[in-house]
Amino acid sequence: MRLDQFLANAGLGSRSQVKEYLKQMRIKVDGVTTKDYGYKVNENNQVIECDGKTIEYKKYRYYMLNKPDGYITATEDKTDATVMDLLDIPNKKDFFPVGRLDKDTEGLLIITNDGEFLHNVLSPKKHVSKTYYARINGMIEYQHIGRFKEGIVLDDGYKCLPSKLEIVTSAEISEIKLIIYEGKFHQVKRMFEAMGMKVVYLKRVAMGKLELYGNLKLGEFRELSMEDIGKVKEIIIK
Ligand code: URA
Repeated sequence: MRLDQFLANAGLGSRSQVKEYLKQMRIKVDGVTTKDYGYKVNENNQVIECDGKTIEYKKYRYYMLNKPDGYITATEDKTDATVMDLLDIPNKKDFFPVGRLDKDTEGLLIITNDGEFLHNVLSPKKHVSKTYYARINGMIEYQHIGRFKEGIVLDDGYKCLPSKLEIVTSAEISEIKLIIYEGKFHQVKRMFEAMGMKVVYLKRVAMGKLELYGNLKLGEFRELSMEDIGKVKEIIIK
């Protein structure tokens, strides 16, 4: 692999940023400073350093985005801003969102360049849980919990898998938490529509064991720590 590609893939910066680092004599390969960005390196047995620190090669990276309202979950769109517009990361063109949140839905979205991970998380066979917080136009009562547990039948006749409804507050506008184990199009909104109610606010707060970071503001993103990558992998229920 070319040295500039290695450095960019490792998350050091864009190709042009890493070329600057090379020019500034900050990069060493096996102890020797080099400015040659096209130099071929073997990431498995060569030691590559920046400012004296060894760089771990990361083929895959995972980011958590707190998606705001108004952004399309796609890599590009002709008219609307996409979630990718919110990310400033090296090699952005190789990255994609894992699953889809509606334009007006907020919350946890994972962005990665790991295609196998995407496939596993989205696979209907894996039943990765997704937890949503929602405000509902309507009074949610205890009896609704049983209906979600049994499996809500959507407008097209599809019977959802059993889901877990938790009532946070019950009023004219109720607050709930809902855990679902599949990801049909507009699923949460359609589940409540099937009961004659409307979701007025929706936010994803967890995927499996990975919870939306409490200190991540709307529109902000963070690379997942090693510990969280572990949790991300754990959400794949085999
Ligand atoms: N269910 C919905 O209806 N919308 C989303 O964005 C996610 C789940």
